[in-house]
Amino acid sequence: MVDAITPQDSPVPVITIDGPSGSGKGTVARLVAEALEFKLLDSGALYRAVALASLNTRVAVDDTAGLARLALTAPIDFTTDNGTGNVAVLLGGQDVSTQLRAEEVGDRASRIATHAAVRDALLDRQRRWRQPPGLVADGRDMGTVVFPQAVLKIFLTASAEIRAERRYKQLIEKGLSANIGSLLADIQERDDRDYNRKIAPLKAADDAVNLDSSSESVSQMVTKVLDLARNRL
Ligand code: C5P
Repeated sequence: MVDAITPQDSPVPVITIDGPSGSGKGTVARLVAEALEFKLLDSGALYRAVALASLNTRVAVDDTAGLARLALTAPIDFTTDNGTGNVAVLLGGQDVSTQLRAEEVGDRASRIATHAAVRDALLDRQRRWRQPPGLVADGRDMGTVVFPQAVLKIFLTASAEIRAERRYKQLIEKGLSANIGSLLADIQERDDRDYNRKIAPLKAADDAVNLDSSSESVSQMVTKVLDLARNRL
């Protein structure tokens, strides 16, 4: 006799949102996860935390073995503030969320992310986030490499100019100084590295839905993703 399939047997659904820096994928992923009451994986934060750990322990960006060891063993944790819902990233028990957003750390993250051994070391850490009732994962290779069986894959883009403008506004609002020309150059350099690296380059999965956030608000993007998700779940 064939056993009946119970709801517990169905795989935990995953929604992936990939795209370049500043496309809005992090914000859209967080709001979609909140609306569905799913878990949220910000995979970029893992790469950034390894980058910060490598700065703290003076492991060079070309030391493949040293970086892979850090990716496997660095004491990285995520905690959620139950009051605000904000997620903090801890490294060795210390809240490093603000440090991780620094341009220097993002730039270093994109350099260490070119090592296959680092990416392999982070695979398991990322897959462990797939827990009931479901997961929204954002990054560069969530739909292509980490969760190829995701029920819904989104590839979110926006022009480099729009992304630089958004970053400029964020920095000015925080009272920090910023130069739009150098922000655009940084974004283009990071894009170039992410799209053209040999291992797990940034690209849309064949079965991904492509969305362009250049002229759409965050809430329009979230509504679109939720409509697609509810159709598939
Ligand atoms: O998304 P975020 O800007 O925080 O990511 C920092 C860097 O980490 C990216 O520029 C990218 O090179 C790398 N990354 C990656 N794969 C992921 C997430 C991030 O290579 N899944």
